[in-house]
Amino acid sequence: MKKLVVLTGAGVSAESGVKTFRDDNGLWEGHDVIEVATPEGFASNPQLVLDFYNQRRRQLKNVKPNLAHQLLADLEKHFKVEIVTQNVDDLHERAGSSNVTHLHGELMKVRSIANENLVIDWDKELNLGDLAPDGNQLRPFVVWFGEAVPMMEKAMQIVSQADILLIIGTSMQVYPAAGLIDFISQETPIYFIDPNPSISKQNNLTILEKNASTGMQELQKHLINTYL
Ligand code: OAD
Repeated sequence: MKKLVVLTGAGVSAESGVKTFRDDNGLWEGHDVIEVATPEGFASNPQLVLDFYNQRRRQLKNVKPNLAHQLLADLEKHFKVEIVTQNVDDLHERAGSSNVTHLHGELMKVRSIANENLVIDWDKELNLGDLAPDGNQLRPFVVWFGEAVPMMEKAMQIVSQADILLIIGTSMQVYPAAGLIDFISQETPIYFIDPNPSISKQNNLTILEKNASTGMQELQKHLINTYL
């Protein structure tokens, strides 16, 4: 089976009703990134940060995977699919995808402030005073700006083995995630689905200027006809 590596961003979840970050009315228009998505923001106003992610967690429980998530899961019948996502939602897993690497953490998990490896499942509100087994305050299991991206090495390895690379719904503005595209080999075909694509010209790049679900319906047929 050919290895299909899929890099996803907020756009793949947009049709589920999850806001993107940088589109009009995106999350970063309504919130100060420094306040809610940096270690400094958490140190100065932890309650605000917990509230922000509590709201995201509540919202996530009320949305469902969309057709794009489902078609990616279906492609496992034909390809060895590896998803590397910048999203903290769990919609790929809920759609049935088996191999999902979260670069920026997971909303339905929390971790000790003192130990990034002490991670526990969490589907409710997180409050000040909620402690990890090591006795330290719990915080969202999200990689904030200015923090290292522990899954990057694994992601680089996955991308370097891609026979086909598919990118869906990301503005390609946040590093190191956006740099993953540099780890494919020269001949690897790249498909990019995004209604407002921002990607530099590359060899073997095909852009589908569409929403994730429409783009995936077209691409599913193309991938099966071309690579099986
Ligand atoms: P952005 O909000 O930066 O970009 C979203 C992309 O999705 C844009 O290119 C849109 O054109 C596209 N888009 C919008 N609707 C779509 C649809 N229906 N189908 C397909 N694409 C659509 O989101 P990301 O690139 O994911 O990190 O942002 C990367 C990181 O920045 C996030 O993981 C987050 C944020 O700060 C952290 O919070 C650590």
